[in-house]
Amino acid sequence: MQTSNNTILITGGSAGIGFEIAKLFSTQGNQVIITGRNQERLEAAVAKLPNVIAFNSDVTNEADVQKLVTKLTIGFPQLNMVINNAGNAFLYHLASSTDTITMAREEMLTNYLSVVRLNELLLPILKKQPQASFVNVSSIVAFVPGSLAGYSASKAALHSYTQSLRVALENTAIKVFELMPPLVDTQFSAPIGGSKGISPATVAQDLFDSLATDNYEIRVGQTEDLYQLFLSSPAKALDMLQGQRQPVLA
Ligand SMILES: NC(=O)c1ccc[n+]([C@@H]2O[C@H](COP(=O)([O-])OP(=O)(O)OC[C@H]3O[C@@H](n4cnc5c(N)ncnc54)[C@H](OP(=O)(O)O)[C@@H]3O)[C@@H](O)[C@H]2O)c1
Repeated sequence: MQTSNNTILITGGSAGIGFEIAKLFSTQGNQVIITGRNQERLEAAVAKLPNVIAFNSDVTNEADVQKLVTKLTIGFPQLNMVINNAGNAFLYHLASSTDTITMAREEMLTNYLSVVRLNELLLPILKKQPQASFVNVSSIVAFVPGSLAGYSASKAALHSYTQSLRVALENTAIKVFELMPPLVDTQFSAPIGGSKGISPATVAQDLFDSLATDNYEIRVGQTEDLYQLFLSSPAKALDMLQGQRQPVLA
C-alpha cells in the first residue's frame, strides 16, 4: 500500500495512537481527516497538525456517522484509507460487578459494530479508488482475553470480522490491515498502568512501515511475542495475560 498521496480518515484522531498516526501520515504527503467527540480536543489537535482537518463525529451515533459520510462523499471523493481507531473500555470484574451488560454493549458498539457500519458506508467510495485500504485497530487481546473482559471480547470480534473482510475483498484493490498494539502509553490506558507501555508514536511508525510492505496483521512489539506463544500453546498465552494481577496489557 502506498504511504503517500492518500486521503485518510482516522476515527478518534484527537489523542493517543490516532493523533500520532495523523501526525506521522500528514507529514508524509497525505491528506488526513480526524474525528472525535470533544470539539476542544479536536481543535487543539488541528492546531498542532497543520495539514489535518477535523470533523466532530461520534462513531457510535448513527446520525453523526451519516453526516460524516455525506461530508466525505462530497468533499473528499478521493478518500482511499479508513483507519478505525476510536475505542472504548470499562474496568469491571465479571465475578462481582453489576450491570456488566451495559458496559459490554457500549464496548461492542464502539469497538466492533461501529466499525462494521462505517466500513459498509465508506466501501462505495473506496471501491472507486485505484488503491485503498481499511485499517482496523484491535489489540493484543484479540487472540486471548486480558483483564478487561468486555473489551477483550469486542476486540476478538473485531479481529474475526477483519479477517472476513480481508477475504471478502481479496479480489479488489482494497487491502485490509489490522493494527494490534500491546499496552500503549495513552490516556486510554492510564487506569490499567499504561505508563509502562510503548509510545503511541512507535505504534504509528509500525503502521507506516507495515503498510509499505503489505504486512496485513500488524502485531506490534509484545503482541508478536504473545502471538507466537498462542500458536504453540493457547493455554499458556491465556495464562500469561490472565496471570497478571495488575492489568498491564490493554
Ligand atoms: N492504549 C493502549 O494501551 C491500547 C492498546 C491496544 C489497543 N488500543 C486501541 O487503540 C485505539 C486508540 O486508543 P488510544 O489509547 O489512543 O486512546 P485515547 O488516547 O483515549 O484516544 C482515543 C481517541 O478516540 C476518540 N474517541 C473515543 N471514543 C470515540 C467515539 N465514540 N467516536 C469518535 N471518537 C472517539 C477520542 O476523542 P474524544 O474522547 O474526544 O471522542 C480520542 O481522540 C483504541 O481502539 C484502543 O482500543 C489501545
